[in-house]
Amino acid sequence: SLRGGGNPLIGVMVPSLRNPFFSDLMQSMQNHAHNLADLVFISVDDDEIEQGLLKMLERGVNGLVIARMLPNALEVDRYLQKQGIPYVVLDQINDSNISDHVKTDEFTGGQVVARHLVELGHKKIALLHPDVMTTNMLERISGFTAIIDEQDDVEIIEIATKLSKHGGLAIANKVAASGATAAFTLNDEMGIGLLRGLKNGGVRVPEDISVIGYDNTDYAEFTVPSLTTVTQAVWRMGQLALDMVLARLKDPALPMQEEILDVRLIQRESTAPAP
Ligand code: RIB
Repeated sequence: SLRGGGNPLIGVMVPSLRNPFFSDLMQSMQNHAHNLADLVFISVDDDEIEQGLLKMLERGVNGLVIARMLPNALEVDRYLQKQGIPYVVLDQINDSNISDHVKTDEFTGGQVVARHLVELGHKKIALLHPDVMTTNMLERISGFTAIIDEQDDVEIIEIATKLSKHGGLAIANKVAASGATAAFTLNDEMGIGLLRGLKNGGVRVPEDISVIGYDNTDYAEFTVPSLTTVTQAVWRMGQLALDMVLARLKDPALPMQEEILDVRLIQRESTAPAP
């Protein structure tokens, strides 16, 4: 039952409040929510998921949007079902088939990146990724490698680093020394850090190395050079997630709701033909 007959309270769980991808997601939900729902946001680390859920339930949420990898999605599903709390998962999901979900076409996203770099004639491409990857990132990489594997003469150099601006910055010398003429960073945060690191090392982007990110976060168009990236309709994702959880609250018997959103290349200054 809803609190005092007012708007339902929806809890939103993300891995980080600082990553602009999730800031956009939360902003879109808040804009969309204004007289539909009240929202409470929480960010949780990998080892805090359970506490995070408990906190949300203590706050009396009526439903949840989980934009966070769940290592034990089945357990969480059982638990939330028992509590009668409907939830929608989006992005990062490792099991989307057990609940309502919104995701983007990650495989195509990876392909779009690879095609762009192949068309520019790059033969040695660094792939920067975090050590531990979420399911959506693995799909992104599968799309990327599917295209590269079709080429006989294109090589991927995998480099692991943190999924953050600092991660990209810290690895710049390694990227430069690898002989790669292009780098695909699994998100914009890493890409922005890499731009700074390459600049510090006297490497020119895109003349010496092209850089392409992922997410089309708001800083991407303001960096120098501006960052080529892939946009994944994060705004729409937030709206849909909220609509889905509200629909489920109204009608628990609805068939499973699923939306898969398109992605699109945003070509800017940081990618150019291979030197
Ligand atoms: O930048 C955050 C990344 O993690 C994004 O690419 C998004 O898809 C999320 O999974």
